[in-house]
Amino acid sequence: MLENKTIVLGITGGIAAYKAADIASKLTQAGARVDVIMTESATRFIAPLTFRNLTGRPVITSMWELNSEFSVEHIALAEAADIVAIVPATANVIAKIAGGIADDMLTCTVLATLAPVLLAPAMNVNMFENSVTQDNLAKLRARGFAIVEPAYGRLASGKIGLGRLAESEIIISGIRQVLGRSGDLAGKHIVVTAGGTQEPLDPVRHISNRSSGKMGYSVAEAACDRGAIVTLVTAPVSLPEPIGMEIIHVRTANEMKDAVIKATASTDALIMTAAVADYQPKDIAVNKIKKTTDSLILELIKTPDILSEVKGNFLRIGFAAESENVVDNARQKLVKKQLDMIVANDITSTDSGFDVDTNRVTLIDHDGKVENLPLLTKREVADRIMGKLIKLFAR
Ligand code: PMT
Repeated sequence: MLENKTIVLGITGGIAAYKAADIASKLTQAGARVDVIMTESATRFIAPLTFRNLTGRPVITSMWELNSEFSVEHIALAEAADIVAIVPATANVIAKIAGGIADDMLTCTVLATLAPVLLAPAMNVNMFENSVTQDNLAKLRARGFAIVEPAYGRLASGKIGLGRLAESEIIISGIRQVLGRSGDLAGKHIVVTAGGTQEPLDPVRHISNRSSGKMGYSVAEAACDRGAIVTLVTAPVSLPEPIGMEIIHVRTANEMKDAVIKATASTDALIMTAAVADYQPKDIAVNKIKKTTDSLILELIKTPDILSEVKGNFLRIGFAAESENVVDNARQKLVKKQLDMIVANDITSTDSGFDVDTNRVTLIDHDGKVENLPLLTKREVADRIMGKLIKLFAR
């Protein structure tokens, strides 16, 4: 995704400017050509030399440097850019961009570029919450600028509030998603489910499984990176929220079913990666169940089978977590649930299935074609599923 892309990284004058060094380094390591433009104030927080060393590229700090390779054609970078990302974006630069002011190399580049522009605001909480800043951000959002929202936490002023620069991973994932807008799934809406549902027994206990959400989140990110509009319906997990997609949080199988029905009202594909509980307690105790007896018998009833019950004209991909007869059992589920494809997931080894970073799967499509994949990272598995999905769409 990032390889050979030209990323213009704009750095403005805020205390978070030093964090842009990490982003410049990671983007460069991922194979991108990173051209840094610093505002004059940014150079007071961090030296241009840091970025020159991290990116191996000249750093632009002024429009008037006659010996810069970009000085003659002041919009050269605007034309070369696949994306312009401003990290951090101060209230001042946001206001300038919203107002069309182009009085330095960075704002000139933003005004002149046809590439997408991403802003990662970071500032004092009062400046961020000020209606002027909020109006400027709303204006930019409406014009198609991507905004990576700042985080809540301790700010340089000592105050606690919204205004901290988002984590590097979140900003990089935002850059990836913006770059993916013209990918081979551009314009497709894909609903992905992830995580293990929780079926409550009483106010503090539930029945669940070991699904970490890693597989489902990887599928959602892979779809997003290829330009799909993604709705992720997720059971509780402890992963960071991916950005660039709609996220719907649910807890139980019934809640997931309702969310999936709503999300698939106008979708092109549903990918059910979630480990949905097959049974739920018949009754949920209003108060915490007391330890008064030597044994406790729970009556469980079936949960709705979401894949079978959700109707509509879209592609359906299911997963099947299997510990025996993996391919045969998965094939039966493909037929029973009338799927276009099923991902048979071997959960017999410790490096595959629930709560690990890698997975070993077999892709089975409705024509009976079987593709055995080797042990891959969950992200690699997700990319292979996307490859299949594109073929299914083409068919
Ligand atoms: O989250 P991770 O830790 O990364 O683990 C990933 C995973 C192992 C959970 C994932 O790769 C996986 O295999 N998910 C499906 C697990 C599962 O519950 O399979 P199943 O055979 O019970 O269900 C078959 C299909 O029907 C699944 O697509 C499931 O989402 C769907 N289903 C199941 C039950 C139900 N009530 N409604 C459903 O729609």
